[in-house]
Parts: sequence; structure tokens; C-alpha cells
Amino acid sequence: MSNPLRIARVTLSDRASAGVYADLSGPEIERVLLAAFDPAPIILSRLIPDDRAVIGDTLRTLCDIDACDLVVTTGGTGPAPRDVTPEATRDVIERELPGFGEAMRTLSFARVPTAILSRATAGTRGRTLIVNLPGNPKAIGECLPPLLPAIRECLKHLRGG
Ligand code: MTE
Repeated sequence: MSNPLRIARVTLSDRASAGVYADLSGPEIERVLLAAFDPAPIILSRLIPDDRAVIGDTLRTLCDIDACDLVVTTGGTGPAPRDVTPEATRDVIERELPGFGEAMRTLSFARVPTAILSRATAGTRGRTLIVNLPGNPKAIGECLPPLLPAIRECLKHLRGG
């Protein structure tokens, strides 16, 4: 049996991180990922405000110190002034994988016309894959499962397979 993957889920939200409302999206990511991988992955969780520098530092630590195979973010991908997740992700990644965001928007747009407001992207830093998801808890179930085959394949490639 192979070693369990190390996966971080990171929720970006000023209000959830201040306790104004509960973070429902992070736990939903965890539920999808726990069901998707065998053996069950080790899950790290973070809940932080929409601050570009804080997001960048958090992502760098999860990649370089915590040695995560996969980091999935939720929130902060829209057009609002405080939405800076794609910018913070690009600050950190070495190679962008734009297909993740393109696929999410294309698949969701048929049912959710506002899906194209998400600027979510993805990319790699060392051996870590970082994927942005929109912040709506419903969007996790709509966006994450269709990405799982590409996530699995990317992790194999990053491990040198
Ligand atoms: N994608 C899906 N599948 N479902 C959704 O409800 N919401 C959209 C979009 N993508 C949504 C979605 C909306 S309304 C916005 S503003 C953007 O994601 C960005 O959301 P975020 O800033 O919370 O990341």
C-alpha cells in the first residue's frame, strides 16, 4: 500500500475567518477528498482572511515545510476588491495549469451562468499541486469531482511517475 497523500484545504474568507459565519466549504472539500483517495489522505486545514501576503505565506509553508502533495483553496476567486486568491496563487506557483480553471468554468457555466465570474486557477510549486475552487459550498461539489482524474494524474507526474 502506498503512503497516504498529504492534502491541505485552505478556506479564504475575511468573514469566516473572523467567525461571522461558519466555513462550510472547507469541510466539503475534505469530505470529497477523503472519499476520493485510498488510503485516506492526511488532511491539514487552514482558515485565513483574503490577504494576498497571508495567502502566499500560507501556501508556501504548506508546500515547502508541510510537504503537501495537494493544496485545494476555496474562496477569493471572484471580481470583488478583496478577492485575491488567483493573484496570491500566481505569486507562489512555478508553473500554471490553466486547464483546471477553464474546465471548472466550462462545466459549471451550463448550469450556473455566474460560474464565469470565478478567476480560479491552478499550478505547481515543487512537488505540490495547488488548485483554486470558488467559495460557494455548493460549488465544491460541482467543481471538484470532475477535476479528480486530472488531479490524480498530475500527482503521479509530480512524484516522478
Ligand atoms: N461555480 C459554481 N460551480 N457554482 C457557483 O455557485 N459561484 C460563482 C463563481 N463560480 C459559483 C461558481 C460566483 S457567484 C462567483 S462571484 C465566483 O465563483 C467567485 O466566487 P469566490 O469569490 O467565492 O471564489
